[in-house]
Amino acid sequence: MSEVFGIIGGTGPAGLGLAQRLCSLGHRVVVGSRDEARAESVVAELELPGDSPGTVVGSTNETAARSEIVVVATPWDAIARTVSPLAELLSGKIVISMVNALTRQGSEFQALTLARGSAAQTVQSILPLSRVVAALQHVPARELGAWAEPLDADILICGDDVEARRKVMTIVERIGGARAFDAGSLASAGAIEAMTAVLLNLNIRYKSHTALRILGIEGDRPW
Ligand SMILES: NC(=O)c1ccc[n+]([C@@H]2O[C@H](COP(=O)([O-])OP(=O)(O)OC[C@H]3O[C@@H](n4cnc5c(N)ncnc54)[C@H](OP(=O)(O)O)[C@@H]3O)[C@@H](O)[C@H]2O)c1
Repeated sequence: MSEVFGIIGGTGPAGLGLAQRLCSLGHRVVVGSRDEARAESVVAELELPGDSPGTVVGSTNETAARSEIVVVATPWDAIARTVSPLAELLSGKIVISMVNALTRQGSEFQALTLARGSAAQTVQSILPLSRVVAALQHVPARELGAWAEPLDADILICGDDVEARRKVMTIVERIGGARAFDAGSLASAGAIEAMTAVLLNLNIRYKSHTALRILGIEGDRPW
């Protein structure tokens, strides 16, 4: 089934990688920005599959927020000012947070302890009427955007609204190679964001492209 996704802060590597992947799955994607012209220009440069009914357009964050399913892909310290004005538009919707609360100290990434526990919980606190699901924070943008290749990764998904969480899991499972795992309530988001710092540090240390794989759960995964 094809859905319309809007990506707030979609002009960075994370948002654009996700836009490409969603497009390859046949979805329509609105890449949002503070600057519509910038969004249009970065989208015009994107390599997209020619044989997919999916589309990607560049627009404002507000237009992105009018989509059926909305993704937040800004730096963590931009969440409040970016998302607060859109709260009414996002009310009742699934809002996917792919934000990590991280800081870089020299050559090392470190997880931050936010007052709400994580970037995803911060988004939920700003959007109490939205159904926030944390997903894809630990998937590198480059691999996400490489739509011609399977995504060799397991993806941990958490959120307080069970139905929203399962919907996002269903979408993620359509990505070839990827497996979605139900990681429970949004209380787990901080651990996943912090693990992303560890993966990034491994990449730096070993000049690698790490991904998560969960061992011990094979075959059908009941909800
Ligand atoms: N990069 C990755 O591999 C990756 C993978 C998974 C998750 N993530 C997470 O996804 C988020 C985005 O990552 P990214 O690498 O794409 O980040 P980014 O390039 O630094 O930021 C993404 C977009 O956010 C907007 N933005 C930046 N600063 C802002 C501000 N102060 N106020 C409002 N909007 C602002 C910008 O869009 P406009 O200037 O067009 O408005 C920018 O293009 C981060 O939280 C990151 O941890 C990243």
